Amino acid sequence: MRNFTAQPALRVSGAMTVPGDKSISHRSLMLSGLASGTSEVTGFLASEDCLATLNAMRALGVSIERLSATHVIIHGSGLRGLKGAHHALDMGNAGTAMRLFTGLLAAQEFSSTLIGDASLMKRPMERVAKPLREMGADVRTHDGKPPVDIGGGRRLRGIDYTMPVASAQVKSAVLLAGLYADGPTTITAPAICRDHSERMLLSCGVRLTTAGLSSTVYPPHRLLSQRLNVPGDFSSAAFFIVAGLLGAANDGLLIQNVGLNPTRTGLLDILRSMGGEIDILNARESGAEPVADLLVRASALKGIEVPAAMVPLAIDELPVLFIAAACARGETVVTGAEELRVKESDRIAAMSAGLENLGVAHEVLPDGMRIEGRPGGAAFSGGEIDSHGDHRVAMCFSVASLRAAKPILIRDVANVATSFPGFVGMARGVGLDLTELEA
Ligand code: S3P
Repeated sequence: MRNFTAQPALRVSGAMTVPGDKSISHRSLMLSGLASGTSEVTGFLASEDCLATLNAMRALGVSIERLSATHVIIHGSGLRGLKGAHHALDMGNAGTAMRLFTGLLAAQEFSSTLIGDASLMKRPMERVAKPLREMGADVRTHDGKPPVDIGGGRRLRGIDYTMPVASAQVKSAVLLAGLYADGPTTITAPAICRDHSERMLLSCGVRLTTAGLSSTVYPPHRLLSQRLNVPGDFSSAAFFIVAGLLGAANDGLLIQNVGLNPTRTGLLDILRSMGGEIDILNARESGAEPVADLLVRASALKGIEVPAAMVPLAIDELPVLFIAAACARGETVVTGAEELRVKESDRIAAMSAGLENLGVAHEVLPDGMRIEGRPGGAAFSGGEIDSHGDHRVAMCFSVASLRAAKPILIRDVANVATSFPGFVGMARGVGLDLTELEA
């Protein structure tokens, strides 16, 4: 097992660039693979999750060249050019890959099976299977979980579907299947969720309209190839945004080229209302996505009640918000976040266990957490925590070392490579005292 040791550190400083966005990298391979012509993707996230998608696209017959780890050329097979794989497609730890592929493969002439690692094999898949069956697809789960068996050769109907949970993965799976339907497909979310699929489908020349919380895709004859520079992943930047607020030196911590899609940046608004000083510099567009540099200054944070509307806009960043909350003056309350229970781990339980071990006063709620902050000095006692194999939990407690009295040993950190290759080097580069060890 691989572990991190995080020694107490006092300051972070300097400039850094986080790796490419995971959500956009998955989608770039899928849509480029369906396009007519050759696409070029730079800033690709060479993480285990995205490489699972890359290997699956290759197994489906798409020719993909890697000019470097982050520079990828995709020779599109065309909308109807995918070929059946000779084996079950292994999605590893990647929920996004499994759910989006379920939608894409439900519309193909051939049958497919999707499997994953021990964590992914426990995650809910009926949320995607249900709307796809309404479209006429043959999608089978086992007790609602993977393996996902998909029968080929079905003609799909366009549907009008309202999702019970605000999930960009479900929305994207239905939009991908909708590319092949006999008419338009509309999907409506109960709250705003990330819209990378819509943006990229439009860039690929697909007719797509949005109205409020609904997106409608019209089946195209073909997809255009794309040239795309993937922005830095806001969810990866989030660890360093909190690190900067807890311990940036005088000049602040500069995080460059961060994707600031408004469906992803709830954490910025939450941290600013807690008193966090975060400046957005050099705002620009890259491809179809907004991008900027972030200058983060050490800030005295105060606890807040997080507005429910913010939760879907910060879902992957709530664990690191809990770390910030533990260092804030007063109480922070997060509710309406039951989706955290079905991520790569039960993130409410995993974060609570870690906070408990590090002496942070908190109360677990069925759909969130109440945290009593300890501002000023050491908010965390030091000690041992278990990441439960969850990359984001491991990275959260690395950041906690900025306010820890003693070292923090973080167990089971290999999965950091699913989203953030090079995390340890980058963390050390800005001043965290983090070491990875084979136990
Ligand atoms: C993602 C959507 C979110 C997010 C996940 C990536 C995506 O999941 O948590 O990390 O790329 O569409 P849900 O759709 O389950 O909310």
